[in-house]
Amino acid sequence: MSVAAAAETAFPDVERLPDRPDPPPALQMLDGTPVTTARQWRDKRRPELVALFQWYMYGTTPPAPKITATLDKVTDVLEGRAKMKQVSIRFGPPGRDRDGRINLLLFAPTRRSGPAPVFLGLNFQGNHATFDHPDVMLPTAWLPDRFEGVKDGQATDAGRGTEAGRWPIARAIDRGYAVATFYHGDIKIDRPQWDGAPELYFRPGQTAPQEHEWGTIAAWAWGLSRAADYLVDDPDVDGRRMIVIGHSRNGKTALLAGALDERFAIVIPSQAGCGGTSPARGTVGESVQRINTAFPHWFNDAFPKFNNQVQKLPFDQHCLMALVAPRPLLLTNAAEDQWANPTGQFQMLKLAEPVYGLLGVEGCGAEQVPAENHLVNTRLGYFIRPGKHDMTKVEWSAWLDFADRQLPRN
Ligand code: GCU
Repeated sequence: MSVAAAAETAFPDVERLPDRPDPPPALQMLDGTPVTTARQWRDKRRPELVALFQWYMYGTTPPAPKITATLDKVTDVLEGRAKMKQVSIRFGPPGRDRDGRINLLLFAPTRRSGPAPVFLGLNFQGNHATFDHPDVMLPTAWLPDRFEGVKDGQATDAGRGTEAGRWPIARAIDRGYAVATFYHGDIKIDRPQWDGAPELYFRPGQTAPQEHEWGTIAAWAWGLSRAADYLVDDPDVDGRRMIVIGHSRNGKTALLAGALDERFAIVIPSQAGCGGTSPARGTVGESVQRINTAFPHWFNDAFPKFNNQVQKLPFDQHCLMALVAPRPLLLTNAAEDQWANPTGQFQMLKLAEPVYGLLGVEGCGAEQVPAENHLVNTRLGYFIRPGKHDMTKVEWSAWLDFADRQLPRN
């Protein structure tokens, strides 16, 4: 039975859910049964949480399609220290006259002994914005005009390199890592219209996802898994050492992708905030009601029913973090970014810890939010820097140090 069909018989309407002012424990089934063994976690509670998050918040996704990949272009970059590959990943679905397509931009270090671990993350403004090189193809999907170099929804050459500060490729390459990225609009544009993967999967006559079907964040996360489908077969990268990263809305997406897809060896949501790493029941920063109002397309159509009654949510975001267990998870934050509630995120991380304990691995090596610029480099990691909401080389330093220590060895 599909997740959706199973949930329909098992999960009550929002109004019939009990009030739970405190975050529901990760190690307790929806019916109250305590979860006391690793087996019970894996066989019962983990699938239940996946289904709950899909049903009430992010939406269900189609099964993984078979992808086909074409290497469009290879360019030597960074004085020969890296090769830049551009790959089209077509994801169907079968029986349609046109394919969905991700244009993946991949940088792989050339001076290395074997396949490189790879950071994979979505970008906001197109591949051409992440790395200033004339070979990088411009996106064809719609982009917001507020981004530099975008005219009437289309990217132009003037946008080249405008997001490069967020993507210190040379630094990652020189530390032995590959970096892969694609524009999130390849999967689904960031506005309340369903062009892209959702539309391709509509049944005849359907014009919007149904109540429990995927919103934009679930679609983006599903797209990251399609990129992973390709990366596991790319000889330049090590498919057992893929690190999923993302900033802000792309960070919410990285956490969801890492929670659902266990091929991601490390999960790093950065400044992800509401709907990602911060508590739905929190009182600092963005609320569930605000996010559903400002971004009605990010979650499914069940989630707004919690706007004025977040205490009815049968989970909080620590449960999504717990789905990453036993794999390493790092939250990175900025002190001035209170909209994303950095302290609330730390509390969520701590509430995920019992699951790591049950699975017999270390949790978080801190009892409170660490000092600024100090990386808590334990399996449940945390980092906060001074300054504003952004993705900078300071985050990247923390991510690289975390990966050096936490990646599984070959
Ligand atoms: C808004 C939104 C956040 C989101 C952020 C971003 O601030 O309220 O939830 O994380 O945009 O994606 O930059």
